[in-house]
Amino acid sequence: MILHDKNIVLIGFMGVGKTTIGQLVAKKLDWEFIDADQEIERRHHMSIPAIFEQKGEDYFRKAERELIVDICSKEQQKVLSLGGGAYLQEEVRNACLSHGIVVFLDLSWENWKDRLPSIVHDRPLLKNKALEEIKQLFELRKQAYSQHHYRVATDGLDPETVAIRTIELICERNTN
Ligand code: S3P
Repeated sequence: MILHDKNIVLIGFMGVGKTTIGQLVAKKLDWEFIDADQEIERRHHMSIPAIFEQKGEDYFRKAERELIVDICSKEQQKVLSLGGGAYLQEEVRNACLSHGIVVFLDLSWENWKDRLPSIVHDRPLLKNKALEEIKQLFELRKQAYSQHHYRVATDGLDPETVAIRTIELICERNTN
């Protein structure tokens, strides 16, 4: 396997399961798992909603950019799950694409919208937004997510199956 000097980076919209799937992928590969949002919360001793509220979104975006660029350029054999907005920053995309294997977890809007009630409480960007506005954000972000190495369509699949597919897909093309 020629994956040893890489990281696997999971991208996709809020609530598609990047953290859960990232943990499973890491466990199966026996790699370390890092969730960018959890790492920011740990370093700042604050929750993401509190950071948005007290420090502002720009502060959060800078923190996530610095963290992700640093991890991508220094680490290897890590599974890194990004917050859904991180990948909109060009510097983040470039770092992930050049040092990592980027996997887009692609859930359809039809399936995603059913998850909204369970995720809205700790997602500042979804609060007080009409469903139509959220849909626009969902569609807009697909442009950034389209820059990936691999895409896994996750509709109807449980996290375990998605994790297995992710590993199979990556290993298929990176082994010889
Ligand atoms: C955000 C996604 C969140 C978190 C923050 C902003 C976004 O992470 O980083 O609330 O801009 O899409 P998840 O994708 O894990 O929900």
